[in-house]
Amino acid sequence: MPALAELRRDALACTRCPLAKGRTQVVFGVGDPVADLMFVGEGPGEQEDLQGEPFVGRSGRLLDRLLHEEVGVGRERVYIANVVKCRPPGNRNPLPEEVAACRPWLEQQIELISPRVIVTLGNFAAQLLLDTRSGIKTLRGRSYPYGAAFVVPTYHPSYVLRSGSVGEAMAGIRADLVRAKEHLAVAV
Ligand code: URA
Ligand code: SF4
Repeated sequence: MPALAELRRDALACTRCPLAKGRTQVVFGVGDPVADLMFVGEGPGEQEDLQGEPFVGRSGRLLDRLLHEEVGVGRERVYIANVVKCRPPGNRNPLPEEVAACRPWLEQQIELISPRVIVTLGNFAAQLLLDTRSGIKTLRGRSYPYGAAFVVPTYHPSYVLRSGSVGEAMAGIRADLVRAKEHLAVAV
């Protein structure tokens, strides 16, 4: 069995943190196991918990659209995962101990997929991968080396949805995706 499939099988049975109790299923991740471009969100919402796939609700539809418009690819060409793999009750923020418990799954995913560019969506993924407490407004607008890869932090699509389609958030997420695409172009 390929290593990522093996990791997924193990993660689907994970009970390392209390989020295991409230979940319908573990939402491990989806997409190309050797993708050059990876996205990391926060955690599954209601639809993701039910369907077992990340970003399939409203935020996911926006992500799919922006991926198409700014990068020119569909979700099958990238890999999409979250910081925590199980839905926090009522979509509350994941707690620090939940993020810490789940972290090895994400780190092993990144190691096996070995993407060239990782776009983090929202505060939680950026703060985890960049090991910082700075907020996304401060962090976004540039890229950061991450091993042999680059991290491009951007807003969470749900924040962009709340902010309206013509605001700074929408312009910012589009610019960040262009930045990610430029890194991909120079990396190959
Ligand atoms: N928001 C996230 O951060 N991840 C998902 O998978 C869905 C919504
Ligand atoms: Fe395991 Fe992560 Fe789910 Fe917690 S959130 S039970 S650490 S897979």
